[in-house]
Parts: sequence; structure tokens; C-alpha cells
Amino acid sequence: MTDKNGFEPLIIGFTCNWCSYRAADLAGISRVKYAPNVRLMRLMCSGRLDPSFVIKAFAGGADGVLISGCHPGECHYQEQNYKTLRRVVLLSKMLEQFGIEPERLKLVWASAAEGIQFAAEVTAMVEEVRALGPLNWQGIVEPSEFPVEALAAAKPELEAVL
Ligand code: FES
Repeated sequence: MTDKNGFEPLIIGFTCNWCSYRAADLAGISRVKYAPNVRLMRLMCSGRLDPSFVIKAFAGGADGVLISGCHPGECHYQEQNYKTLRRVVLLSKMLEQFGIEPERLKLVWASAAEGIQFAAEVTAMVEEVRALGPLNWQGIVEPSEFPVEALAAAKPELEAVL
């Protein structure tokens, strides 16, 4: 539902190939209705998600970012989704420092059979972000101005923590 100002949130969703992308696919095949505001990008594994992808999504105009992967213990690349979990916790703390509400970044575990649950999570997130209003980072923060390089430079230290 569009709010009274006509705001429709744009959500960028990063899904893993083996579970959550298939859950989204299943929702589509099963004709489960969910908010059309999410643009999905498929990664082989949620562990492939570089933190800079999230920053670039926000700086490029996204109002929210959804990250989705296999349930803990079910990652097809051993324990990469535990890395995702740690990254999301750190990212969310960092984004808060930049004034981005934690609700704008969401991590959802979904198996390939959970199309209905995935659809419900997407719809719930769209409504949460709609209530927050537009982020309006596009044009204010250029992706090139965001500390992507600083993050990359800090990567060896981060990798040790992550
Ligand atoms: Fe799905 Fe790793 S393969 S999270």
C-alpha cells in the first residue's frame, strides 16, 4: 500500500543461489503475493556479500537492503552464512553511525521450500521501511564518497574479526 505521500520503498535484496533465491522463485511459481518493491540480486552464497555491496545499494538509492541466505548449518559452502551474520551485525552498527536506521537492513534465513515465509518477510520489511520514509541518500552521498576504500583497506583486520 502506498503511503499518503505516494512513497514506494525500493528494497535491494541479496539472495543466495541455493536457498533464498529458490524460496523467492517458489513464491513466484506458487503465485504467493508479496510487495513488488524488492529487486533481487543472486549471489552464489550469502557469504559472498561484500559489505560494500550494501553501502553502494544505499548510496545508489535503495531505501532498504534485504540479505537472505540458507539457515545456519545449511550453507552449501560450509559456514559462510555465519560470516554473513557477523557482517550484518557489524554493518548495522556502522550504518547507524551514518544515520541509517537498523530496520533498513534485514537478514532473513530461508530454505528453498520457504516461499511463503520469504514472501511474508519481504512484505513485512517493505511496510517497516515505508513507515520510516525515504532514505534519500542518492545524490546526497555519492557511492564514490562513501568509505568503501576505507572498508577495503580495513579488510585484512575485518577479515580477522569476521
Ligand atoms: Fe546459501 Fe551459503 S549457500 S548461504
